[in-house]
Amino acid sequence: MPKVELHLHLEGAAPPAFIRGLAQEKSVDLSGIFDEAGAYSYVDFCDFLKVYEAATSVLQSPEDYARLTRAVLSESAEHGVIYSETFLSPDFCGGRDLGAWREYLHAIREAADAAERDDGIVLRGIVTPIRHFGPEKARETALCAAETAGDWIVGFGIGGDEKSGELGDFAWSFDMAREAGLRLTAHAGEWRGPESVESAVDDLRVERVGHGVRAIEDPALVERLAEDGVVLEVCPGSNVALGVYPDWQSHPIEKLRGAGVKVTVSTDDPPFFHTTMSHEFDRLAETFGWDRGELDKLNRMAAEAAFCDDATRASILKKLEAQ
Ligand code: ADE
Ligand code: ZN
Repeated sequence: MPKVELHLHLEGAAPPAFIRGLAQEKSVDLSGIFDEAGAYSYVDFCDFLKVYEAATSVLQSPEDYARLTRAVLSESAEHGVIYSETFLSPDFCGGRDLGAWREYLHAIREAADAAERDDGIVLRGIVTPIRHFGPEKARETALCAAETAGDWIVGFGIGGDEKSGELGDFAWSFDMAREAGLRLTAHAGEWRGPESVESAVDDLRVERVGHGVRAIEDPALVERLAEDGVVLEVCPGSNVALGVYPDWQSHPIEKLRGAGVKVTVSTDDPPFFHTTMSHEFDRLAETFGWDRGELDKLNRMAAEAAFCDDATRASILKKLEAQ
C-alpha cells in the first residue's frame, strides 16, 4: 500500500546500526545509548531527547547528512512511503549558521533527488527549532528557514520538550516563517493537554499540529479542530512507546477521527519506537478493524494536507489512486 508520511524527524529516523557505524568512524563512544540488542535505549521522554541528541552528535558534516538521508529514505521506501515530510534542524545542521545550513541542505537535497530517482520516494523539508533550546535560538532557526524557503523547504515547525516554556514565546519565529511563505505546524498536545493545542492554533496560527492527540480531553476543542479543518499528524506507535497512552486500544485516534477531525498517520522517530509505516497501518487495522478503504483515506488525507506545491500533490494523489 503506498503511504504518505507528514511527521518524521530525520535524525530520529536514523537506523541504530548507521549511527553506530558513524560513531566508530569518528571514534566516539556511544555505547551508553544502545541496549544489548543494539536498539536505542531510554527510560522516558526526557531521556529519549538526550539519547536522540547523543546519537545526533556523530552527524557532523553535510556528507554525514547525505548518507543519513539515503539510509532513511531507502528504509521508508521499503515500507511503501511515496512522499515524506521530514523535520530538519539547523541546530544540528551547522549550528544555525546560514552558510553552513545551506551546505547541509544542498547535501540533503542531492541525496533526496537520488532517492527519488532510484526508489520513487519524494522528500520535502520542514525547518524545526527545538523548543527546549529556547526562543532566541528559534529566531536564528527561523531566519535560516526564511532564507531557504521555497519549493523544497515548505514548512516550519517546532519539536522538543513541550513542557519547556510556552508556545507563544515562539510567535516571532512563526510570524517570520509565515511571512516567508512557509506553512506551519507545531508539536503540541503530546506532553501537555488541550490548552497546548489551542495555543498552537491561536498563538502560532498553525494549520497542522504534531500529535495534538490530547485535544481529546476537551470536547469543545475537538469540535473546533473539526470545524476549522486543523490537521493532526498522529503518531500512535510513538505515543504508546513513550507512554502517552498505555496501549493501542487506549489511543484516541479513532475517537478523533469519528468526531470529524482530520487525522493522518506517521512514525515520528521509527527505530526509537520499534515501528515503521507498515507497522503503524497494520496495528491500526488490527486494533480498530480499519479495512484497506479506511487506511487509504488516511493517506489521501495526508496528501491533501501536505505542504508541497499542487503539482507534487497531484502526482502523489495519482500514485495513491493507481493502487
Ligand atoms: N523530537 C523528536 N521526536 C519528538 C517527539 N515525539 N516529541 C517532541 N519532539 C520530538
Ligand atoms: Zn515529532
